[in-house]
Amino acid sequence: MDAASRLSQLRAQAGRIQQTPLAKLIADDAARAQDFALRVGPIYANFARQHYDREALAALFALAQSVDAPARLKALFDGEKINLTEGRSVLHTSLRSDLSDAPVAKAAHAQALDARKQMRALVDSLAKSEITDIVSVGIGGSDLGPRLAVDALSGPKPGRFRVHFLSNVDGHAAQRVLAGLDPARTAAVLISKTFGTQETLLNGAILRDWLGGTERLYAVSANVERAAQAFSIPAERILPMWDWVGGRYSLWSAVGFPIALAIGMDAFEQMLDGAAEMDAHVLKTPVEKNLAVWHALTSVWNRNGLGYSTHAVLPYDERLKLLSNYLQQLVMESLGKSVRTDGSPVDVETVPVWWGGAGTDTQHSFFQALHQGTSIVPADFIGVVRADAPYPQNHRALHANLLAQTEAFANGQSSDDPHRAYAGGRPTTTLLLDALTPYSFGALLALYEHSVYLQSLVWGINAFDQFGVELGKQVASRLLPALEGKAQADDPVTRALLEQLRG
Ligand code: F6P
Repeated sequence: MDAASRLSQLRAQAGRIQQTPLAKLIADDAARAQDFALRVGPIYANFARQHYDREALAALFALAQSVDAPARLKALFDGEKINLTEGRSVLHTSLRSDLSDAPVAKAAHAQALDARKQMRALVDSLAKSEITDIVSVGIGGSDLGPRLAVDALSGPKPGRFRVHFLSNVDGHAAQRVLAGLDPARTAAVLISKTFGTQETLLNGAILRDWLGGTERLYAVSANVERAAQAFSIPAERILPMWDWVGGRYSLWSAVGFPIALAIGMDAFEQMLDGAAEMDAHVLKTPVEKNLAVWHALTSVWNRNGLGYSTHAVLPYDERLKLLSNYLQQLVMESLGKSVRTDGSPVDVETVPVWWGGAGTDTQHSFFQALHQGTSIVPADFIGVVRADAPYPQNHRALHANLLAQTEAFANGQSSDDPHRAYAGGRPTTTLLLDALTPYSFGALLALYEHSVYLQSLVWGINAFDQFGVELGKQVASRLLPALEGKAQADDPVTRALLEQLRG
């Protein structure tokens, strides 16, 4: 049976067990608490609270085989041009692993090592300077990964630099970031794969003017000439990236320069090593024991089998509170497609809306709807075993809440009073990191990257382009003259709004 038929049969497969309470599925198969769990290095994952059974899982694994998941993972690592709509290789794995003998992957790995050397030298020279603050200017993939990593991995003690992030084109963002900084002790890193992104060019110009010149400007780009030309940055202060690294997969490259400045180059490389362990696992492990395959198939099951249209990511660790922002781009920019790679329409639903926030704050905001709302929201709960804060009582409470929520979501609780009844049947996956370190963090992010690719294989879509974001950019550039009073808008509603905006 081909992949399309297997995919379309997931509904029927789900129909077989959808009315069976999740709590009963678990009670009837006590071994699933162990059998539906996997460990890869510092990550333990438990899928036992997903609303599937062994028969459904077998159908899902057959689906993964029918899209040749193992061979197509190898194609990614080998640098085959799997980004077909743009004719590019997708080699973010070569930034951290050396698992392929393909010449293109080897060459990419060598380039990555050279860039890392250059990056280490820049980190060292900045460390010897008077600079105390770094402003990282970039947006999307040139911002979200570094921003998350710096927030997650900077310890409580001040590092060598304070690292700030400026992404939004809204001038209030620049105003806020620059307030309180001293231009004489600040350096800026302009990060843009293309160096054609409006937000980064405008904010870069603000930084150049505020710094009073280009002396303390650094850049990261795949378009080194453009970076050099637009901001007169000399080559030795420009770190390279390449068209074989997608923006949202780029924190492992020199895009991670702000991470290295915040936590040190050695810690940055530990993050790459953690990702490399996940790479090796995903590439070499059969689908039934492969964590990324389990994760991806679970997402497909919830979307195409059970029909759920959103997915929450709920880290129970304050340090990971930006994870959902990062994953929104990784997952939704990659999988938010409705045509297959060959241009034909996808005939099943693709990406759900990803959203979330850190527990326990979220329990006091939107969890009411997750427990008793009419929409079921599958979720990834992410916990960290080892506490690094000196408040053990709080950490135990945090863990108690994590355990309590996933149990309550799954099992619910009956009551004669409908207002106090909990239906349960809310599926969750629990991911536990031994500790939050650069290594485990790298492994976690690599897991999500591979899961995204595997989901794209099932849906037959290209996870590595993002044409959907282009139209808005084009219309905005057409409308800029209208805001400057030099042109009129064609669209009547835009015209009415423009009148208001022009005051
Ligand atoms: O949002 C669209 C996008 O192209 C992302 O894919 C990318 O991460 C971001 O813009 C920034 O692009 P660049 O790094 O080229 O400035």
